[in-house]
Amino acid sequence: MKKIKIGIIGTGYMGGTHAQLYARNERTEVHAVYDIKLERMERVARMTGAKVAENGEQVIESCDAIVVTTPNSRHTALTIAAASVGKAVFSEKPMATNLMEAQAVLEASKNARVFQVGHNRRFAPVYVKLKELIAEDKVHSAHIKMNRGELQNPEWTGKAEITGGFLYETTIHLFDMIRFQFGEVEELIAFGSSQTYPETDNFSVLLKFKSGLHATFCSAADASWIFPFERVEVFCEHRTIMTQEMENLTDSRGTDPNFQFFSWHLLSKEERWGYAQENEAFIDAILNETEPPVTAIDGYKSVELVEACYKAVNTGERIKFE
Ligand SMILES: NC(=O)c1ccc[n+]([C@@H]2O[C@H](COP(=O)([O-])OP(=O)(O)OC[C@H]3O[C@@H](n4cnc5c(N)ncnc54)[C@H](O)[C@@H]3O)[C@@H](O)[C@H]2O)c1
Repeated sequence: MKKIKIGIIGTGYMGGTHAQLYARNERTEVHAVYDIKLERMERVARMTGAKVAENGEQVIESCDAIVVTTPNSRHTALTIAAASVGKAVFSEKPMATNLMEAQAVLEASKNARVFQVGHNRRFAPVYVKLKELIAEDKVHSAHIKMNRGELQNPEWTGKAEITGGFLYETTIHLFDMIRFQFGEVEELIAFGSSQTYPETDNFSVLLKFKSGLHATFCSAADASWIFPFERVEVFCEHRTIMTQEMENLTDSRGTDPNFQFFSWHLLSKEERWGYAQENEAFIDAILNETEPPVTAIDGYKSVELVEACYKAVNTGERIKFE
């Protein structure tokens, strides 16, 4: 079978992670890589056997599928260029860092062979299990926490002009996750403050979903990396289901002290975090000519939720969704 030629633009942490997975995959080869920092692309080229390109355009031209893993606000020019010439495109999250660009990507994605957004957590076994358990019960309410220990590493994470704002960093994953688990949001209100960094770095959000479920969501950029920095607690009738990062899930019922505990600590990080599975899904979508599990519309909707939070914080308005 002819291998899919993968091109990677931005060969830092995530570019390197995807590159290693695609290099090991029997259905793909890492054909070309590009990064503005020579030593980074050379390192990944050495690891994978890829060619070093002179620019992003060369990668787009020479490959079947383009993986864009540059910093947040550097995604859209590249993903739009690749989608516009009919390539398969994988955009790391966030799909865009404002609604106008998200709309432009959504338009361009219609021309792409496949367009997938890197909301890897949908594939993480812990969240697949949560969805499975929720499907057999009625969720009343939920509490979501998505904290970071700092906005210092990589160094661009503290620059709002590059990230699009703190919520576009890790927090956006959980905005996608709440849609994945609980469906569409009907309305939200949000409060925020700037404590440690020049931008708003602490958020408290109240959400109501179209299903009637309501939830609280907190996200602080300057908390700490104490485990678990990411947690979803779901409350049903005399039942709490609780996740801790991508590590484990506890399902407790009523007064029963024998909680059910699921752990994925023996999996590799790439599987635990869903990176391996999201890449398999991308390859499947390319080969089977099917829609990927995380579409440009999903990417757009997570950007929309982030923008709604900023608007709610800045104006004090209650934001309603159609
Ligand atoms: N899905 C996840 O779990 C996850 C985890 C971490 C990061 N991310 C996302 O992945 C993206 C990359 O993050 P990272 O942690 O790998 O950052 P990083 O800083 O380690 O890597 C980014 C790379 O892009 C390069 N770069 C910058 N501008 C470029 C351009 N115009 N053309 C080519 N290369 C360019 C940089 O030199 C750097 O090597 C970000 O959008 C981030 O939000 C996702």
